Amino acid sequence: MTERVLSGMQPSADSLHLGNYLGAMVNWVQLQESYDAFFFIPDMHAITVAQDPADLAERVRRTAAQYIACGIDPERSTLFVQSHVPQHAQLAWVMICQTGMGEAGRMTQFKDKAAKSGSEHAGVGLFTYPMLQAADILLYQPHSVPVGEDQKQHVELTRNLAQRFNHRYGETFRVPELAVPASGARIYDLQNPTAKMSKSGESPNGLLNLMDTDKKMAKKIRSAVTDDGSEIRFDRAAKPGISNLLSIHSALSGKAPSELEEEYAGRMYGHLKVELAELVVERLGPVRDRALELLEDPGELDALLARGAQKARSAAEPVLAEVYQKVGFLPAAPG
Ligand code: TYM
Repeated sequence: MTERVLSGMQPSADSLHLGNYLGAMVNWVQLQESYDAFFFIPDMHAITVAQDPADLAERVRRTAAQYIACGIDPERSTLFVQSHVPQHAQLAWVMICQTGMGEAGRMTQFKDKAAKSGSEHAGVGLFTYPMLQAADILLYQPHSVPVGEDQKQHVELTRNLAQRFNHRYGETFRVPELAVPASGARIYDLQNPTAKMSKSGESPNGLLNLMDTDKKMAKKIRSAVTDDGSEIRFDRAAKPGISNLLSIHSALSGKAPSELEEEYAGRMYGHLKVELAELVVERLGPVRDRALELLEDPGELDALLARGAQKARSAAEPVLAEVYQKVGFLPAAPG
């Protein structure tokens, strides 16, 4: 049997960013060659913070177009939207009932987001977010979950919940492995290179979007914050800006940071920035163009997502049925 992988990216902006691309997407595209791959768009997670309804629907399509433009093949992989598969919400409730208040309160993403909106104003959905994520994963019994480093804690919680459920109710879930890429695991903000690149970062110039124009991408790299001194050296503590640029270069070019240090020995920060800007545009420009092309035919995208949802539902249905039976729900009479 081919091993299975599953992962997703939130459709909470018009564009995915370089962190999504290098931390997860590049890995996904490779994995679909040898795994039974499920890639989905977690729109239910997106509404844990307020979203404009018309924007959200459009962003789901834009995210699907970007998945495909990056190289996800909807014939080979199962590509679907979370809200099209009701079993996610159904299993999430069961997962919520397995989770302690203490362990949910320790999730750093929840703590960060709650702190930003003021904990009194943070929605309950933000608190139960990781249990919905556990349901997303466990419904499909994947062998591993390819994500960037920032999702490690959520996958750990998923593993704990799977083990706990198996212990209480008998062997049901596969306990999935975490698959974080060796290079690009964490990409930092270009203007604030000690914070991870994210759509909620402070400066728009710190975020490199896949849908940016060539000019904008190049400008963001060229105006990235660098460090004191002039030596191009990978040293996360002393040179966070340069180290981030070297990581991005390394993830795109496949050259190890030590190899890049040698290549740039005696040269200036500006040289690295100009060459990296070219590399980024060369790699991401065609992705953006392909995504825009796909967006010209929204009917075709919707049809493809409907086919994916059908496949996902047939995989999820028997797992949810087993869970319902194990927890002791009276089977619903047919009809
Ligand atoms: P999200 O939408 O924040 O990010 C999608 C993927 O991109 C990775 N990533 C990064 N990697 C490196 N550097 C960065 N700066 C960076 N920013 C983001 C993330 O690690 C992730 O792999 N909770 C998830 C979505 C989700 C999910 C799931 C993932 C919902 N259900 C089930 C896997 C399985 C999230 O918000 O990812």
